[in-house]
Amino acid sequence: MTTKSQALVNWIDERFPLTSSIKGHLTEYYAPKNFNFWYFFGSLALLVLVIQIVTGIFLVMHYKPDGTLNSAGIPVAFASVEYIMREVPGGWLIRYLHSTGASAFFVVVYLHMFRGLLYGSYRKPRELIWIFGTLIFLVLMAEAFMGYLLPWGQMSFWGAQVIINLFSAIPLIGPDLALMIRGDYVIGDATLNRFFAFHVIAVPLILIGLVAAHIIALHEVGSNNPDGVEIKKKKDANGIPLDGIPFHPYYTVKDIVGVVGFLILFSAVVFFWPEGGGYFLEYNNFIPADPLTTPLHIAPVWYFTPFYSVLRAVTYPLFGIDAKFWGVVAMGASVVIIAFLPWLDRSPAKSIRYKGPIFKAALVVFIISFFILGYLGVLPPTPMRTLVAQICSVLYFAFFLLMPWYSKLDKCKPEPDRVNFK
Ligand code: HEM
Repeated sequence: MTTKSQALVNWIDERFPLTSSIKGHLTEYYAPKNFNFWYFFGSLALLVLVIQIVTGIFLVMHYKPDGTLNSAGIPVAFASVEYIMREVPGGWLIRYLHSTGASAFFVVVYLHMFRGLLYGSYRKPRELIWIFGTLIFLVLMAEAFMGYLLPWGQMSFWGAQVIINLFSAIPLIGPDLALMIRGDYVIGDATLNRFFAFHVIAVPLILIGLVAAHIIALHEVGSNNPDGVEIKKKKDANGIPLDGIPFHPYYTVKDIVGVVGFLILFSAVVFFWPEGGGYFLEYNNFIPADPLTTPLHIAPVWYFTPFYSVLRAVTYPLFGIDAKFWGVVAMGASVVIIAFLPWLDRSPAKSIRYKGPIFKAALVVFIISFFILGYLGVLPPTPMRTLVAQICSVLYFAFFLLMPWYSKLDKCKPEPDRVNFK
């Protein structure tokens, strides 16, 4: 650095922790040297967050959260999205980046969570990272749900109708709660306006705050790795972990590889397959919202369907309360239970590499059940499909609830002292 630029840095450092932050979080943040493919998804989740915020800002410049009809009898909100697609220069690209980004966010976050499951990244001392992560997941679902109402298409309208009506199943407060969420007796302009406010500012602020807390917690305890070895336990004379390498330049460069790979796949979808066969943008959502015409089949977007299946799997009333209420409870529980993993896993080994056959089998059954639930969630229910969803829901919960028992029982391999790195 020249003397002038060094002087500038010194001037800043006396007033703001610039150099110490760069050192603490990048050049002197020691990460395990054995990160693999699965470690791409944290930085990719950050990238998608940025893509969503930037494209969202440009969409808001032309989008109108207005459910009233224009002179052509089309809802203004729907027409404003069509205007973005057809008239605004590059508008189609911004919109498809944002709509594909929503699905990409869930792909990346699901893979990121799966990595946590594989390597026991939720376990001591990373419980808080995991809890912040589960909260992020919940908030992300709320963000996506509210965003989906904004184009004011048939699926926006009827999807929101189904989900908001679920709240009315809650005893005593349900009907008033649903009314409060809608802001009206039916989904309408008031609902659209409040969902817009939440989607563009309130929820993103919470999301950004939680992501910051997630990373601060991570940098406090340090990253886990595919071997589940705590690298801070073995340090050299200078206090540097023997199995650690500085995050920058090693992992900044490695993450660029992930970013390039991701952007190739992401662009392929954005440019050639933006509606994702009806999974990323449902076909019914290209039809303006019509409160008088219910679509034949209302299905949520793919990333909600495993949890939606759990909801539909509950078909029996209990304690005199409607099955719908218990369905909502089961659906909520299926997400919240994820937060308790750090205390459910009693296995002596942290990483799947050293865990025993029972845990491995349980994980396989869990993942298969999750996929089946996801698949069933897009289909209309039949008695047979409901039965399969019930079995898979039981298996889903059994993975968590029986974990304290089977994880202890399992025969694990001894964990190494140092990480494996070829
Ligand atoms: C917006 C969403 C999210 C973002 C931007 C994000 C970001 C990150 C980043 C940058 C890392 C460090 C790099 C890495 O280990 O891959 C990380 C680590 C981690 N995240 Fe997330 N994350 C998100 C959601 C989640 C969710 C939903 C969970 C779980 C419920 C989760 C659990 C974890 C755990 C356990 C670690 C530590 C992993 C380890 O050290 O092995 N994250 N996250």
